[in-house]
Amino acid sequence: MKSFFHVQDIGDLGKALEEAKQVKATPYAWQHLGKNKTIILVFFNNSLRTRLSSQKAALNLGLDPIVLNVNGDSWKLETRMGVVMDGDKSEHLKEAIPVIGSYCDLIGVRSFAGLTDKEFDYNETILKQFIEYSGKPVISLESATVHPCQAFADLFTIEEYKTKKRPKVVMTWAPHPRALPQAVPNSFAEWMNAADVDFVIAQPEGYELDPQFVGNARVVYDQMEAFEGADFVYAKNWSAMNPYGQVINKDMSWTVGARQMAVTNNAHFLHCLPVRRNMIVTDEVIDSPRSLVIPEAANRVVSAQVVMKRMLEEM
Ligand code: CP
Repeated sequence: MKSFFHVQDIGDLGKALEEAKQVKATPYAWQHLGKNKTIILVFFNNSLRTRLSSQKAALNLGLDPIVLNVNGDSWKLETRMGVVMDGDKSEHLKEAIPVIGSYCDLIGVRSFAGLTDKEFDYNETILKQFIEYSGKPVISLESATVHPCQAFADLFTIEEYKTKKRPKVVMTWAPHPRALPQAVPNSFAEWMNAADVDFVIAQPEGYELDPQFVGNARVVYDQMEAFEGADFVYAKNWSAMNPYGQVINKDMSWTVGARQMAVTNNAHFLHCLPVRRNMIVTDEVIDSPRSLVIPEAANRVVSAQVVMKRMLEEM
């Protein structure tokens, strides 16, 4: 695997989930793979889970992790091509990336969507430069349009807790005060479409995601209708595609609460975290025994470890 970006990069999903089970059961069984090897984790944006779970996954594999907080620890990096660098950015990605690549064997990159230039974001301009200029395998740790380590952990969590072969999984938009990227819902949709689940997207009008990620999913504009009989509810906010990156609705009736959960099949609640309580989900639902947000976050180590393990095995 030269890069981890889309669901196709992991290959057969059944095999990947079986491998995740093995990694979770015996996390230190592949320590030899990472011996004398280094992963550099580049963060253009804040993180709790991704930063810590990626470091833990690397350590489990015997890999040495180095974290670089761009815009904090390093020079500010210019990401656009052909610009006169007369602003506050001291170094261009064209130099910084090959330098980073020369110090390591694997690279992970977090680079959120800017939400101002749709073409720049949806071309994955920053991640693609890492792939092109580093010469090393690159993992998206949430880039402009995707968050594959999260979606893999989400699917693995569903696999662990499902009680029927083909569960109904509903991803619902929920309100948030600030504009958020579409990366998490994009990847969740992509991975659910590839998995053996009955997948439904619940959203208000105007929040349609990019068709390449929606695929054949059923899109329902009535949240209560979508929730009927659901086995898993995955809540997330995302900003609109048109006008790009804008908050066009803050309808608090979409906050996931006991009213919606009552029509489900005693559904489990999922959210990638961080979550704004009583905006996205009520205290009652996230604190209920059906909430899986903590085991879901714990599985971020597993998904990251499977990806790094595969990359190391191919070296
Ligand atoms: N879910 C997730 O990616 O969390 P962080 O932003 O804290 O890494």
